[in-house]
Amino acid sequence: MNKFVGKHVVIAALSVLAGYAASAQAADVVGNAKAGQGKVAMCIGCHGIPEYRTAYPEVYRVPMLGGQNQAYLENALHGYKKGDRHFETMRAITASLSDQDIADIAAYYAAQNSSSKSNPDK
Ligand code: HEC
Repeated sequence: MNKFVGKHVVIAALSVLAGYAASAQAADVVGNAKAGQGKVAMCIGCHGIPEYRTAYPEVYRVPMLGGQNQAYLENALHGYKKGDRHFETMRAITASLSDQDIADIAAYYAAQNSSSKSNPDK
């Protein structure tokens, strides 16, 4: 009996937490592409290199960010920050980003298009 009740309490607590996490992420944070431009300096070293390959510590491919869907980028960054997505460097980097930073950066990258190909910040 106790065990049964305990299980329900845990499930209820988890669903409250899940709801909280979802609403915290969906809070009224509006991305600003201009503000984002000033926040991507630390991303360019990896995302934005020719051929999207980095040579350290070994050759690996880096995803292109410019022109990707804004919500997708935001979700990806939150995912790394929360640990749902696993990639050490991305996790370390997103740890220092606020929700506003993430929204701004996502807005900035989403605003890139094929005509901004030569954009050095891409
Ligand atoms: C040290 C290199 C490095 C730096 C610096 C870096 N990234 Fe990444 N990033 C990667 C790699 C490699 C991946 C692919 C990881 C994987 O497979 O999950 C990635 C993945 C991503 C993804 C997921 C893309 C997708 O298509 O799923 C996003 C979004 C992203 N990075 C944004 C950023 C932003 C924004 C910054 C700067 C705040 C940044 N990254 C800095 C290497 C880097």
